[in-house]
Amino acid sequence: MEFYVISTILASVFIIPYALKTFFPYLWVDVQYVGVLMRILFKYVANRRRTPPFFALERFLERRAALSEKPFIVFGDEIYTYGETDKESNKIANALLSQPGYKPGFTAALFMGNEPSFLFTWLALAKLGSPVALLNYNIRSKSLLHCFNCCKAKVLIAAAELKEAVEDVLPSLREQGVTVLLMAKTCDTPGIENFSEKVEEALDTPPSLSLRSHVTLKSPAVYIYTSGTTGLPKAALVDQNRLLSALAVISTYGMTSKDVVYVNLPLYHTAGFVVGFFGCIENGSTMVLKRKFSASQFWDDCRKYNVTVVQYIGEVMRYLCCTPKRDNDRDHKVRLAIGNGVRAEVWKEFLGRFGDVQILEFYASTEGNIGFLNYAGKIGAVGRVHFLHQMLFPFLLVKYDTEQDEPMRDADGLCIEASKGETGLLVSKITDIAPFVGYALNEDQTERKKLRNVLKKGDLYFNTGDLMRIDKNNFIYFQDRVGDTFRWKGENVATTEVSDILSMSNCLQEANVYGVQVPGHEGRVGMAAATVKKDAQFDGGKLYEHVVSYLPSYARPRFIRLQSAVEVTGTFKQMKVKLVEQGFDPELIQDPLYVIDDCVRSYVPLTSDIYSSILSGRIKL
Ligand SMILES: *[C@@H]1O[C@H](CO)[C@@H](O)[C@H](O)[C@H]1NC(C)=O
Ligand SMILES: *[C@@H]1O[C@H](CO)[C@@H](O)[C@H](O)[C@H]1NC(C)=O
Ligand SMILES: *[C@@H]1O[C@H](CO)[C@@H](O)[C@H](O)[C@H]1NC(C)=O
Repeated sequence: MEFYVISTILASVFIIPYALKTFFPYLWVDVQYVGVLMRILFKYVANRRRTPPFFALERFLERRAALSEKPFIVFGDEIYTYGETDKESNKIANALLSQPGYKPGFTAALFMGNEPSFLFTWLALAKLGSPVALLNYNIRSKSLLHCFNCCKAKVLIAAAELKEAVEDVLPSLREQGVTVLLMAKTCDTPGIENFSEKVEEALDTPPSLSLRSHVTLKSPAVYIYTSGTTGLPKAALVDQNRLLSALAVISTYGMTSKDVVYVNLPLYHTAGFVVGFFGCIENGSTMVLKRKFSASQFWDDCRKYNVTVVQYIGEVMRYLCCTPKRDNDRDHKVRLAIGNGVRAEVWKEFLGRFGDVQILEFYASTEGNIGFLNYAGKIGAVGRVHFLHQMLFPFLLVKYDTEQDEPMRDADGLCIEASKGETGLLVSKITDIAPFVGYALNEDQTERKKLRNVLKKGDLYFNTGDLMRIDKNNFIYFQDRVGDTFRWKGENVATTEVSDILSMSNCLQEANVYGVQVPGHEGRVGMAAATVKKDAQFDGGKLYEHVVSYLPSYARPRFIRLQSAVEVTGTFKQMKVKLVEQGFDPELIQDPLYVIDDCVRSYVPLTSDIYSSILSGRIKL
């Protein structure tokens, strides 16, 4: 009898785990995920319930209190501890308080590259209860004004090196009564104030808490710009509630106060600002801030600063894998890489070359209401579909018609769910816990991201614009963006925005912009199929000057294809799929083709020679 009991127990001990592993290979992973989700929810709810009210800024103040002497920001040879960072931001806050034209709570726009001042200024404004618009420092003239205006900012704070870009739009800003502050000691342009001196002279005592007593969970915290589906960039409103939920998610990424985090992505994007900046604050880590990503300096920096956590986007990983191999490739302390968009081949290559780094791939968007985390570390996937996740945040993939550029509908006008293994458009139900706040002052664009009548008449979903695939083991993979945006050099390019700009040029009538794939490049390279204005001649030089003055480098179309007419669909949407497939091979395309040439500052005819040089990588795009 005893023998049976013992052997049964032994058998269970050995067989059950084996059976589970065989028949439910991801059971353990899923159990862990439930734990992660519960921790996120618990954390979020606990933070929301705190009194006095708790916002993202309070997390920083907590860390400052506990880790005052600990380095927070390392920037080149400069080091700022948590305490010093706090004082620097107090000085900016106090200087702002004495600034005519500024009042606590006013929305301010920050136009600055990656540097410690960016973070000091954000913290200062948070202490004064001011929402901050994070302007992309690559934008100029019309785009800059548009971005500034779409969040109704009353103050512009700019880095010294961006003075010229500010001067460009100064007349309009002055007309609107905007206060323009330059982070420089001197400035002799009327209408732009030198702000650094004031900051240096200001006291470093904390501004009164009452100055931000108006802030609630619904108050805007930051505006982050996204190149969305159409038109100029849109300001996604990130409210305090959303920052709190981001903090809760980030707290499960496993960063600790011992970690040194390498932040090399722009702070004006969600990846740098939320994941990088708040990721460091959440657990009191040290941030090594880099002005710009550099593939050749990446590992040297990691060695120099003892970096343990790095951030990436797909392009970063690819560029790193493309650098010449070195003997010390594995000589570093990096244990974790957090980011999104790395392709399976690059992921494998990265691990093979740089050693055992945990890659934490996630999927999220600035304004979206759905996210995934590849907690299982499945190569190539962005995450895993889990019933609990789906219960909390109902989402599904629906069949998408890439020709018509819209979701397919059945006879009842409802969307059709994509089957397992099939690519579909990710849509996520808009609910109280998965809200979609939308874009500042842009009802139209906000409406466009909503999808109705998905499963039932009258239901309401957020349209991510991303095509995904779920495999039979429930891992979810990112496939592509739908028609009107593509990614290039880590930035989203809105095709309609580019085509609007092209059709404002002297010689082009209409332009259909899309992205084509080029071997060896992540993302897609911008191309435009355009028609020439009646009685006008195509002028590559003039078009080049026009494009350069209106579009940031990553959004400029590299190729132009001249056509006699732009093809449109039944619903007057431009046809892109066929053009994308046809690419830019001059041997196959009869239409005149041009390629951008930055040396001669013009669009020049695309010859077969140039074509093969691009394919072989001799010409860089
Ligand atoms: C800089 O600002 C201070 C006041 O903050 C002013 O007195 C000074 O003249 C300014 N200098 C220049 C060169 O603009
Ligand atoms: C990060 O900080 C949170 C508290 O904010 C804590 O619950 C969590 O355990 C920390 N994580 C690590 C890995 O230290
Ligand atoms: C990096 O770590 C090494 C060994 O642990 C130490 O000697 C060095 O001072 C550290 N460097 C920095 C910048 O912290």
